[in-house]
Parts: sequence; C-alpha cells; structure tokens
Amino acid sequence: MIKPEAVAAGHAGKIIDMIIDNGFRVVAIKLTRLSRQEAGIFYEVHKERPFYGELVDYMASGPIYAAILEKDNAVEDFRKLIGATDPSQADEGTIRKRFAESKAKNAVHGSDSNDNAEIESNFFFSGRERF
Ligand code: RTP
Ligand code: MG
Repeated sequence: MIKPEAVAAGHAGKIIDMIIDNGFRVVAIKLTRLSRQEAGIFYEVHKERPFYGELVDYMASGPIYAAILEKDNAVEDFRKLIGATDPSQADEGTIRKRFAESKAKNAVHGSDSNDNAEIESNFFFSGRERF
C-alpha cells in the first residue's frame, strides 16, 4: 500500500516508479480507501499495541493505493526497498527515507510474509483485477 499521507502529498507516481525500477512487476493496482473497520482488520495483529487506534485512524484518513507486486524473493526485497519502519533509521535510497514523514506516517506498507501477502492480496483484489 501507498499510505494516505503519501498519496495526499502527490508521491504515489514517484513511489510506483521506484518500485518498478527495482524489478517488481505490478500484478494489480488500485486507488481505494479503507473504512476504520477495514483498517482495524488489516492491522489486527497490532491490536494490543499503544499506537493501534492512531494507526487505524491514519490508515482510514484518505485514499491509498493498494498493489500486488511480483518478484523472486518479493517480500524480503520489498522490505529492503521500503526501509525501516522509522524513517530516521531507514537507509539512503529507500522509499521511507525519501518519502516518509514519521514512524507512524511512513508512506508505504509491505507484507511481512508470503502468507500475509496472499491474505492482503485477497483482501483488495478479485481474480479479474490481476494481470
Ligand atoms: P507496515 O506493516 O505498515 O509495512 O510497517 P512495518 O512492518 O514496518 O511496521 P509494523 O511494526 O508492522 O507497524 C505497522 C505500522 O504501524 C505504525 N506504527 N506506528 N507510533 C509508533 O510508534 C508506530 N509504530 C508503528 C506505522 O505506520 C507502521 O508502519
Ligand atoms: Mg508490518
């Protein structure tokens, strides 16, 4: 996902460019918006964390881009490309170093496992939206 503040700031095109330049194939992509309830389900693993309420409000605060990306070793390589959760810790050349505002508003989401990538893909996309 490209998160709400990055979409609102007009960074989506540049972020998608970086993703494609780094060897990912776009299988599916759309502009959409999560309800608070959907954002809550999406980040349910963080339900007990102190930032959960803030995270849900933020992720539902405006439109996001959702995408399915394909590459060998995609989960690990995408997390390398996006950089650390906190942009102050992110390496030079990463998406979060370049575009994130803060640890909370950090521009992009990446799936953390193949299983979660499949669950998250199915959350956003039907079969006929995938190429
Ligand atoms: P993501 O799931 O969005 O790809 O991010 P991540 O794996 O790098 O980080 P994770 O620990 O899964 O946290 C999910 C998102 O919650 C927000 N967050 N806020 N205020 C805070 O201390 C804090 N910590 C995490 C961020 O938006 C983070 O990406
Ligand atoms: Mg995560």
